[in-house]
Order: sequence, then C-alpha cells, then structure tokens
Amino acid sequence: MKIVNYEKKHFSQLLPVLQKTWNFSKFFPEAESPRFVYELVLESVLSGPLNHTQIVENDEGKAVGCLVGTIKKNVTTTHKVKAVLDIGKLIVKTLYKILIGKFGPIGEVFERLKEIGSLIGNLERDKAKFDGVVELFILDESLRGKGLGKRMMNTFVSECKQEGAKSITLWTDRGCTFEFYDKYGFEMHRKIHSPILSFPECSENGFVYKFTIS
Ligand SMILES: CC(C)(COP(=O)(O)OP(=O)(O)OC[C@H]1O[C@@H](n2cnc3c(N)ncnc32)[C@H](O)[C@@H]1OP(=O)(O)O)[C@@H](O)C(=O)NCCC(=O)NCCS
Repeated sequence: MKIVNYEKKHFSQLLPVLQKTWNFSKFFPEAESPRFVYELVLESVLSGPLNHTQIVENDEGKAVGCLVGTIKKNVTTTHKVKAVLDIGKLIVKTLYKILIGKFGPIGEVFERLKEIGSLIGNLERDKAKFDGVVELFILDESLRGKGLGKRMMNTFVSECKQEGAKSITLWTDRGCTFEFYDKYGFEMHRKIHSPILSFPECSENGFVYKFTIS
C-alpha cells in the first residue's frame, strides 16, 4: 500500500470504491447506468481547485481510497483557471448526457439537480470561513478501521499547519462514517436536515464539521 498524488488513471479506479460505499444512484434511478452518476459525483469533486491529494494505491497500483482537499492559501491562479475549465467541461458534458436521456427523463433529472444543487449550496455555505477543506475522504471497506484514515488526516492537518492554516471544514451525512470526525477532534459546526440525504427520518442528517489547528 502506498500514498501517491492523484493521476488521471485513478479516476476509474475510485468509482467502484465510491459505488460500494454510497448509494448515489438513488438520485437518478432511471439512469442508463449507475456509472454515469458516480462519474458525475467524482468529477464534480475533482473539478474544484484541489491542491492536496492523497491516493491510496494497493500493491497492484490501483487506487483504493483517497483524501482530497484544498488548502486555500496554496490555491494559485493556475488551480483557479484549471477549476473553471474543468467545471465548464463538466457542465457541457453533463448537459449533453442529460439531453440524450442518459440520466433518465429530462424533467425529473433537472428537478433532482435543483434539489441537489440547493442542498450542496447550503452545506458548502460556510466553506469561505475556513482555511482548509476536505472534499472527499474514503477508503475501500477492506482497509477501514486499521488507522490508515487517521494517518491520512494527520498528513492533511500537518500540511495545513505548515502553510499557516488555522481551520479545516468538511460536510458529511448520517450515512457516512461521521464518527471518525468526532473521534479525531472535529467539532460540529452546524447540523441540517435534508429529505435527500441518508436517514431523512432523523431530524438532523447533514453535518458540517470544523477542526481547529493548534
Ligand atoms: C472515514 C474513513 C476514511 C476513516 O478511515 P479508517 O481508516 O477506517 O479510520 P481509522 O481506522 O484511522 O480510525 C480512526 C479513529 O476513528 C474511529 N472510527 C473509525 N470508523 C469509525 C466508526 N465507523 N465508528 C466509530 N468510530 C470509528 C476509530 O475507532 C479510531 O479511533 P481511535 O483513534 O480512538 O482508535 C473510513 O471509515 C471510510 O472510508 N468510511 C466510508 C466513507 C466515509 O464515510 N467517509 C467520510 C465521510 S465523507
């Protein structure tokens, strides 16, 4: 097992890791293939101005987990330009797929995207107040509970600290391993309820966490 920086080849390798963990295909039940949905999620995450990537590669060199994030002080103009271009490309590609029906009936898809957009907008609202953001943190099931996640978070926190960052944020939901953040020393910044997150029957099912770097 080794930790490397993100490369394009990791994209398709990470899709099954996400797919085994999170049921994103529920958002577009009539999509031609669940793969389209996972591609959209992963591409959206990777389109941001990321400047911290830890990809866990197994002995065959395949990506089996990652922690990707942003340390704002290190976001350069190049990162920003790349992010704008990537997001533009993603919008065009996704619109095309929607219009040719890859995600299911067009009207329902746009309704769903509106709901998801407003949820993400709400959850991301506070990002500007923090110096670092964890955008995606996941390990293949077989690797969990062995201390690897904590090591990866330590690496991110150390890099943030080196760069003078004082705070980190992330959002998650009740269907994720949010207990990790409580154990690690994150504090709850804000809780929300959304009918489209996991466990909608709970009064609060979306969590924005914060971590103070000492
Ligand atoms: C979140 C994740 C990356 C953590 O990695 P991990 O390697 O399993 O975590 P670690 O083994 O390093 O655990 C670190 C600490 O968190 C605790 N912890 C981890 N998972 C836990 C769980 N499900 N419930 C309670 N505590 C948990 C561990 O007991 C450990 O505590 P300790 O420091 O007191 O020993 C991994 O569990 C995962 O991929 N989860 C699914 C995806 C996800 O939900 N990601 C995060 C939300 S976006």
